[in-house]
Amino acid sequence: MIEFNPYAYEIHEDPYPIYARLRSEAPVYRNEELDFWALARHADVLAAFKDVKRFSNRFGVSIDPSSYGPHARIGTSFLAMDPPEHTRMRGLVSRSFTPRRVREMEPRIRAIAVQRLDRLVGAGSFDVIGEFAGKLPMDVISEMLGVPEADRDELRTWADLLVHREEGMMDVPREGAAAFRKILDYFTELIAERRKKPGGDLLSALLEPACAEDRLTDKELLGFCNLMIVAGNETTTKLIANALYWLDRTPTQRARIASGQATKSQWVEETLRFDNSTQMLVRTLAEDVPLGGTTLEKGGRALLLVGSANRDERVFPRADEYDLTRDCTRMLSFGQGTHFCLGASLARLEGAVSLDEWWKRFPDYHVDLDGVVRVHSVNVRGFAKLPVRV
Ligand code: HEM
Repeated sequence: MIEFNPYAYEIHEDPYPIYARLRSEAPVYRNEELDFWALARHADVLAAFKDVKRFSNRFGVSIDPSSYGPHARIGTSFLAMDPPEHTRMRGLVSRSFTPRRVREMEPRIRAIAVQRLDRLVGAGSFDVIGEFAGKLPMDVISEMLGVPEADRDELRTWADLLVHREEGMMDVPREGAAAFRKILDYFTELIAERRKKPGGDLLSALLEPACAEDRLTDKELLGFCNLMIVAGNETTTKLIANALYWLDRTPTQRARIASGQATKSQWVEETLRFDNSTQMLVRTLAEDVPLGGTTLEKGGRALLLVGSANRDERVFPRADEYDLTRDCTRMLSFGQGTHFCLGASLARLEGAVSLDEWWKRFPDYHVDLDGVVRVHSVNVRGFAKLPVRV
């Protein structure tokens, strides 16, 4: 019988062989010690995403003790709600994420990418995370929310502390919890300022009298700001760096990008499928759920293994091959249904623009494999350091 522990070192390094065994052994895996069930097959993960009545988000989506449960210290706003509360909150903020709104952000995202990358031309070697991929997503979220440039580095430091884990750590560390408080204090002040003096940013728009009939309270707004940082920062950083890493490791696909046979968007899509930054999401069972000869008991936790679903051969032939020209439409990297990632178009745009501008400057880049460091976290998969020679 296979043992699956999401905190274990080998999961951070390479979870895919373990997922493959989980998928082949049984539809449901049970870990008594950590008290969760896990679903590894594409069909089961997809069905659970769609079944919000039985697979609830109300206790959060992370297995970390301080992020899970009715008294979670690290809250994630409407991501940790079920309908109808979720429907109202998502409705109020989603107008800022329409495809048109996101398309309009392209020139600004490109300008940020150009500014960050131009500084690196001629540098010879540098860390992709520290100099580029770790910066751009937070720049974009900060612009959306109207965070002044002078405050962005500090906010980024706190956001990094929130997700950072030392090996063997099974929860958000003290420094992470303190950083979370600082983020909340920071946005409490920013919201008060925008109330007095609105600007052209998303935060001010959400405070506008136009939405007075059903306005977000300060507490709800605060939760939303925090959700944007938790959901949209680290994930997109990892996407950009994972894309650069896998292209360098796969010469056949590099040739496709070089010859124009594959687009930057295809590069983004296949990276999301092949090695997604979000590997697993928790659901709480609102009812008993019979599945594959077992019963997932009401009140228990089900881990939806997105990273595994994306490698399921039943849906993706030659699933362990990184192939930019494959059809990725059924990947589950942004979830599915009610909680489908609100920032999916934004993340895709940030990814494609970043890779486009990168390729214009550094088509001959190579990853320095000896210096690569992976993040150890149950929530995000990717690199803490990705040194390259350009
Ligand atoms: C590669 C980048 C990203 C990945 C892989 C990703 C992944 C996900 C996934 C899997 C969910 C669904 C969670 C669930 O079902 O429990 C989600 C939700 C969400 N994401 Fe993303 N995300 C990314 C980028 C972003 C960005 C850039 C933003 C915004 C700035 C964002 C904002 C959100 C929000 C607000 C939700 C909650 C939606 C809801 O509960 O209705 N995400 N994301």
